[in-house]
Amino acid sequence: MGQPFRTDQVVEAPYFADRDEETNKLLRVMRNRERIVLYGERRQGKSSVITRAARRLESEGGVVIMIDAWKVEDLNGINRAILKAVPFGWVKGTRLELLIRAFRGLVGLMPNEEGRPVLGLVGLSAHRDPHPDETLERILEGLNDVAGESKTPVVVVIDEFQNLEKIRTNGGALLRSIVQETGHLSYVFAGSMVGLVMNLIGPKGPFHGIERIEIGEIRADYLATWIQERSKSCGVEWTSDASPFLVAKAGPVTEYILRLAKAVHWIGTQSKGAVMPDTIDQAFAEIVADMDGTFDLIWSKMSNTRRKVLRGIADGEVRLTTDHFLSRYHLGSSSAASRGERELRDDGILAPGKPPRISDPFFAEWIRRQT
Ligand SMILES: Nc1ncnc2c1ncn2[C@@H]1O[C@H](COP(=O)(O)OP(=O)(O)OP(=O)(O)O)[C@@H](O)[C@H]1O
Ligand SMILES: [Mg+2]
Repeated sequence: MGQPFRTDQVVEAPYFADRDEETNKLLRVMRNRERIVLYGERRQGKSSVITRAARRLESEGGVVIMIDAWKVEDLNGINRAILKAVPFGWVKGTRLELLIRAFRGLVGLMPNEEGRPVLGLVGLSAHRDPHPDETLERILEGLNDVAGESKTPVVVVIDEFQNLEKIRTNGGALLRSIVQETGHLSYVFAGSMVGLVMNLIGPKGPFHGIERIEIGEIRADYLATWIQERSKSCGVEWTSDASPFLVAKAGPVTEYILRLAKAVHWIGTQSKGAVMPDTIDQAFAEIVADMDGTFDLIWSKMSNTRRKVLRGIADGEVRLTTDHFLSRYHLGSSSAASRGERELRDDGILAPGKPPRISDPFFAEWIRRQT
């Protein structure tokens, strides 16, 4: 009897729930050489929904070049990642002279870690590229030329695209200008809705005006039913009030809900009766206890101001600049409180938007338990 839930990675069927509307929108963009920015709170399921749409497109013969810019250190890293992600099947099926013409000596075939052929940079730009921005332009233009001669859609997906701003001054504007000149390609950009992404898609940002879609919470009643049915299909019964209770308890973020569901299901496999709200409280408490070391480390590295702000929010305070709040949590000034709040939001510890919410419900509970 398998495990019904997965966490800590991109999920695909049968672990994937809902998001038909978002998937269809992405597919439309991917098929039609359009562009879209996907944004949302961390761990809500952005990468998973992109992967789902990408698999569908591939099953129709489309080509998806997907990179994650999160851990890339410089523009050269982006260039390498894009080339490496070009599917070899597509390269093989493309006329050689077209490829050579498109990339004008910049790119060649080479083995990857598993010995499979992938595209890579050759010559000067392979090592210390003196002009990685020009190289990025030439790569995307090359792909664009090949896509222009092909009936199948070619999609470039840049997950965590806001990182371009971190690795290069005006990296977002550079990318945007190249995107504008490569109209045969479809583009999907994704990022968490924190400071950088908002700057990029805001009224003064280079990505302003591009279609956008928020990956928000999955409808609570849908998810509750889905969780109960998945768990049941793996041999665990639930009382009817249990799964709505679970979703409400974990808060709106998909990954935390799934993490709790996974722990509850496991307890369910170990015990006789059906899963009840009590089982959920037990699983929740176990996760908080399991995470103690991790949370303790995060907490110990945090400034006093941030801790005070978090304590207040964990206690349910919603207005952080009132005199009541400042004196109760011993905060020096309302500007310090606001700054702490903004930094915590930029780091993804607080959810975007108002009122303030600690994104991780287990961390919030852990903070409440600290005296
Ligand atoms: N549609 C879904 N159905 C079921 N579980 C999901 C779904 N989307 C996300 N999850 C759960 O949330 C976790 C995080 O998903 P994913 O990595 O796609 O989110 P993300 O928004 O890209 O996160 P990050 O901000 O960390 O990049 C998954 O491992 C899975 O447990
Ligand atoms: Mg992601």
